[in-house]
Amino acid sequence: MVFLTFLVLVSVFSMEPVMADRHGRQWTNDKGLNSLGNEDLVTDLPGQPAVDFRHYAGYVTVNEENGRALFYWFYEATTQPNEKPLVLWLNGGPGCSSVGYGATQEIGPFIVDTDGHGLKFNPYSWNREANMLFLESPVGVGFSYSNTTSDYEKLGDDFTANDNYAFLHKWFLKFPSYRKRIFYIAGESYAGKYVPELAEVIYDKNKDPSLFIDLRGILLGNPETCDADDWRGLVDYAWSHAVVSDETHKIIRENCDFYSEDPWSNDKCSDAVGEVLDQYKRIDIYSLYTSVCKKTSEFSDDKSIQVLFKRTSRMMPRIMGGYDPCLDDYAKAFYNRADVQKALHVSDGHRVKNWSICK
Ligand SMILES: *[C@@H]1O[C@H](CO)[C@@H](O)[C@H](O)[C@H]1NC(C)=O
Ligand SMILES: *[C@@H]1O[C@H](CO)[C@@H](O)[C@H](O)[C@H]1NC(C)=O
Repeated sequence: MVFLTFLVLVSVFSMEPVMADRHGRQWTNDKGLNSLGNEDLVTDLPGQPAVDFRHYAGYVTVNEENGRALFYWFYEATTQPNEKPLVLWLNGGPGCSSVGYGATQEIGPFIVDTDGHGLKFNPYSWNREANMLFLESPVGVGFSYSNTTSDYEKLGDDFTANDNYAFLHKWFLKFPSYRKRIFYIAGESYAGKYVPELAEVIYDKNKDPSLFIDLRGILLGNPETCDADDWRGLVDYAWSHAVVSDETHKIIRENCDFYSEDPWSNDKCSDAVGEVLDQYKRIDIYSLYTSVCKKTSEFSDDKSIQVLFKRTSRMMPRIMGGYDPCLDDYAKAFYNRADVQKALHVSDGHRVKNWSICK
């Protein structure tokens, strides 16, 4: 398996620079259209607000032998896309869809509207500042898939980083005008692992000038780094945003050793952190200043948040993404629609099975 992956990567990499050099700019026509990417141009997304920028969606095969394909949705910048950087966005999980969360509930230009009936324009979309590439990875997440079911048992951070790297070079073949663009990788939550891991692969491979990707930096939001630091961050954030009192925070500071084997064996620590989590039953931890979604759904009852923050779990609660839990339902409803999938060039038979596992 490792060997096969290696072979495929080698063939991708040995082929890529020649293609890029030979075709470089010529593949961009007068209107700046990316000729190979054109088949992925999204033209008739139901309910889409009218916009001036182009966007593309579709698959990039990252492993031909096993038939692994990653799904992306790419929004060019609203103005002067040729002069703006390229930003790859990764949601976390593991298992969290970058289309279902990042693109359509958070920072993309089209946010799902109530009941999954449509989309509304997001005036704060990051594609005001950059060309935004949302990638669903690894296979099994969102619309990304493998034709070899045993691949799903091999998933892991290295696997993900290597497929994501293969994706980038193959994607540049579709969009050659971005091949030499200033590049950033951004993400949240478990992407606190994915982002630096992909950055490291790029950094290593960049030693070969023909593979050079102009990576300038990484951006992480609510990243998973290590449990101890993440707990500290959660507690400090709650305190600095007046979710808990100075007193509670002081007790935590004095009694919690998050680096120990079992921080919760200290009752004072356990109770005080319990107080933080109690507050977050009433406040949306992902959006302190907006109202909590009250729609009856699996996302809005106390149970889910309790599961999320089960302190016995050794895993840090990870950011789920959506600032309104109801958006989860709208996003799911919208992207399970056949007409929407058709517009986004999602393959038949590769509908979302596990929409997202973002916790
Ligand atoms: C997966 O299999 C389907 C059906 O044979 C095929 O159409 C598709 O191209 C395959 N995907 C990849 C990435 O090879
Ligand atoms: C994913 O979906 C499959 C079948 O649809 C189901 O058996 C499995 O439990 C799901 N996995 C998770 C983690 O939800």
